Amino acid sequence: MSGMTDDKYSRLVSTVLKATSKLTVENHLGCAETMCQAVLASDNNNSSALNQLGVIKYLQGKVGEADLFFENALRNDHTNIDAALNRLNLRGVLLTQSPPDNAAFAGRGTVEGAQAVLSETMFEHFDNLKNGVEIKPGIPLASSCEALTGTELFKWVEAISNGFLAENDRSLTYYKQKWVKDPFHQWSRRWEYLFVLDEFYRLNRVEGKKKLRVLDGGSGLTFFPFLIASTQKALDIECCDYDDQLLGPFGEIVSRTKTQSTLNMSVADLRDLRFPDGAFDVIYSISVIEHNKELDKIVDEFYRILKPGGELILTFDISIDGSRDIPIDAAERLLGHLRRSFKEVESGLASSSLSDFINRNESLTTDFVRQNNPELLPFSSVPNVTCYCSVFRKAS
Ligand SMILES: C[S@@+](CC[C@H](N)C(=O)[O-])C[C@H]1O[C@@H](n2cnc3c(N)ncnc32)[C@H](O)[C@@H]1O
Repeated sequence: MSGMTDDKYSRLVSTVLKATSKLTVENHLGCAETMCQAVLASDNNNSSALNQLGVIKYLQGKVGEADLFFENALRNDHTNIDAALNRLNLRGVLLTQSPPDNAAFAGRGTVEGAQAVLSETMFEHFDNLKNGVEIKPGIPLASSCEALTGTELFKWVEAISNGFLAENDRSLTYYKQKWVKDPFHQWSRRWEYLFVLDEFYRLNRVEGKKKLRVLDGGSGLTFFPFLIASTQKALDIECCDYDDQLLGPFGEIVSRTKTQSTLNMSVADLRDLRFPDGAFDVIYSISVIEHNKELDKIVDEFYRILKPGGELILTFDISIDGSRDIPIDAAERLLGHLRRSFKEVESGLASSSLSDFINRNESLTTDFVRQNNPELLPFSSVPNVTCYCSVFRKAS
C-alpha cells in the first residue's frame, strides 16, 4: 500500500481482521465480509482473511464456499491452526450431520478435539466416504488415484494430516528436514495411507472390539499412526524406527494428542527386530523397505513376530528404470519370497509379471505425477518409480 511501511500495513490488517472477527461473532456478516474482501483486494493470499471468510460463508449457510476458503487459507499457510480447525469442524458437521457448533467455528475449539470427533466417527461413515472408489491391492492405477483424491475420505484424511502438521510444527522440525514436509501430499503416499486405512476398516468390521497389537514398521514421524489410534479403541500400537532422534518429538506429540488407543515408539531395525515371536496381530509398513538391501531378512522378521493368522500390510516403491530401489526384477523376487511365506490377498497381479503390468502404462508413476501434479514429487528429477501395496496373511 503506497505511503505506508510494511510494518504499519500489517498492523492495520491485523486490526481490521480482529474487528472483522468481532463483527462475525456479533452476526454482522455482510459488514464483516466486506472488510475481509478489502484485505484480500490488496493481499489475495492472506490466510487469516481467507479463514475468516470461510467462517462467514459457513454462517451464511454456504458450506461449499466455506470449505474452499478454509482449503485456500491452509494452502497459503499450512500452519494456520484456526483454518485447520475450522476445516476439521466443517468436515465433521458435513459427515456426521451433527448440528453446527458456531463457537468452534469462531476458533475456540482445539485441533485435537476436532480431530477426535472426526476420527472416532470415521469408520461409521467409511463406505460413504469412499464415494464408490475401490482401493485395490497391487500397483495403483493412475486413474484410481485421481478418483480417490476427489472423495470425502481423501478430504477427511487430508484435513487430519493438515491439522497434525499445524499443531505439531515444532516437534516435526527434524523429520521434515530429513524426509519430507508433508508426507500425505507425496505422489504415492496419498494412495498408500488410504490403502492401509481401508484394511484397518476391514479389520475393524471383522475383529470388532478384539484387542489388537499393531506394529508400524519404519514409522518415521507422521500423522498416520495417530489417525489409526484415534479411529479405534482396542489397538495397542507400537511404532518403530531405527532413527533414535524421533523418540523425543514422538513423545511430545503423544503427550498433546488425544487418542482412543495407546501409542508407543521404540528404536528398532526391521532387519533384526527385538520383539518376541508372535508378538503382533497386524504389522503395517509404508514406503520403508525400499530403503534397505536385505529385503528377505525383513520379510522373515515380519513373519516371525506375527501371530499365526496375523497380517502384514506392506507398501513399497518399484524403480521402473532400475536406477534406484527396488528394481523390477528384485521386486519380483521379493514378491516370490513374500508369497512363499504368506498368502497374499488377490492383487490381480499374481499371474502377470510386474513389468507387463507396468508397461500397460496405466500405473501411478512419478512420470505421470510429474506431468499432472509436479508439486507432489520430493524433487523434480526423481527417476520413474511406481509403488506396490498389498496384504499378506500368515497361516493360522
Ligand atoms: C520414507 S520414510 C516413511 C515413514 C513412514 N512409514 C511414512 O509412512 O511416511 C522411511 C522411514 O523408514 C525408516 N527405516 C528405513 N529402514 C529402516 C529399517 N531397516 N529399520 C527401521 N526403520 C527403517 C527411516 O528411518 C524412515 O523414518
